[in-house]
Amino acid sequence: LARCDLFAELEPGPLARLADRARLIQADDEQLLFSEGDTGDGLWIVVSGIVRVWITDAEGHALTLALQEPGDMLGEMSLIDGAPRSAFATALGASDLLFLDASEFRAVLAEEPSLALHLLSLLAERLRRGNAELRDLAYAPLRARLSRKLLDLALGHAIARGDGAIFTRAFSQAELAQMLGASREAVNRQLRAMIHDGALVMEDGKIAVPSLKRLEVAARL
Ligand code: CMP
Repeated sequence: LARCDLFAELEPGPLARLADRARLIQADDEQLLFSEGDTGDGLWIVVSGIVRVWITDAEGHALTLALQEPGDMLGEMSLIDGAPRSAFATALGASDLLFLDASEFRAVLAEEPSLALHLLSLLAERLRRGNAELRDLAYAPLRARLSRKLLDLALGHAIARGDGAIFTRAFSQAELAQMLGASREAVNRQLRAMIHDGALVMEDGKIAVPSLKRLEVAARL
C-alpha cells in the first residue's frame, strides 16, 4: 500500500489501518473490474499488471482514457462525489489489485487532511494531462499525437536501447487507435509512414524506437 502514489506520504498508523482492511484481488486478462454507471463501492490500487480505463460513445466506439500501472489508484472519483463510476476498468493481462471499501477510505480521508490534499494534487495532475491531450486532439496532427503517446508509453513499457528504446509489450494498432481517438486505419497509415522514415522499427510485433530524440522532434510537429 505504501508503494501507491496516493498513500506515499501517509503516517504509519493510518496506513496500517488501511492495509488491515485492504483485500487482495487477482484479476485475469481482460477481466472487467467495474462498469461505467456502477455504484462506487471502493477504491482500487494496482499492485501488478495494467488496468485500462475506458469509455464508449452511443455507437460503441471505445476511448482509452488511461492505462493504470502498479502504484496507481482507480475508482476514487465516485468515492469523492458519490456519483456512479465514470468509466469502465479492465485488467490487461493477469493483474493483482488491492481493494479498499468506500466507507473505510472515506473515514481515513476525513481524518487525514494531508491525504485529502495529496488526492487533490493527483487529480490536478490528471486534469493538466487531460488539458494537454484536449489541446492535442483539437490542434495537433495525428503523427505528433502518436509520437507523444509512444513517448509516454515508453516510460512504463519500454527498455532503453542505445539512443532509443524497445517496447516490452506489443501494442496493437487497435489499442493505439483507442488511446488516440483515431481510426485503426489512420493509425496504421501513420505507423507505416514512420517505419518507412526510420523513426520506428517493428521487432517481433513490438515497436522499437531507434532514436528517442527523433521521436521527440516528431512529437513537437
Ligand atoms: P470512478 O469514476 O469511480 O470510476 C472510473 C475511474 O476511472 C475513475 O473513478 C478514475 O479513477 C478513473 N478515471 C476516470 N477518468 C480518468 C482519466 N482521465 N485518467 C485516469 N483515470 C481516470
